[in-house]
Amino acid sequence: MPATVPATVPATIFVLNGPNLNLLGTREPEIYGDETLDDIAGQLEDRARELDLTIDMRQSNHEGHLVDWIQEAQARGAKAVILNAGAFTHTSVAVHDAIKGVKTPVIEVHLSNIFAREAFRHRSLIAPVARGCIAGLGAQGYLLALDAAAHLCKGAAKPAASAARHN
Ligand code: DQA
Repeated sequence: MPATVPATVPATIFVLNGPNLNLLGTREPEIYGDETLDDIAGQLEDRARELDLTIDMRQSNHEGHLVDWIQEAQARGAKAVILNAGAFTHTSVAVHDAIKGVKTPVIEVHLSNIFAREAFRHRSLIAPVARGCIAGLGAQGYLLALDAAAHLCKGAAKPAASAARHN
């Protein structure tokens, strides 16, 4: 028997990344910054320890993986999903429906300010079904999302605009 048994198991937050985010560090650094996805994962791990959370960070270039993982987040009892769906943000009804189909809150993150870029990036199919949205703050956006997820875990945050939500 270990001398000390942790009082609680840390809550898990899924951090899901969509297409081309595996290229961070070399992909258009003037837009997305110099940090790699592994760098961001390391920062999230450090912050998660401070917050007594566990993160499960994944990346895929395939839309269906994001759908599967959003469903898995709920099935495994994750407390929140931090999602940068990359270009699928602007196109994917399947990811939109997956978020709508689970109760797990989803926090949408973008490194760049999608609203200050090309017109086709101004529309997010994720935003109407996300709990909240952070865009344009680079890698720091992921850390802010993790802080928000910790807040959700405490049950402190209620949707600010529940009447307007479509899920
Ligand atoms: C992105 C913005 C998307 O428009 C783009 O397709 C990406 C990255 C961002 O993090 O800024 O792949 O989600």
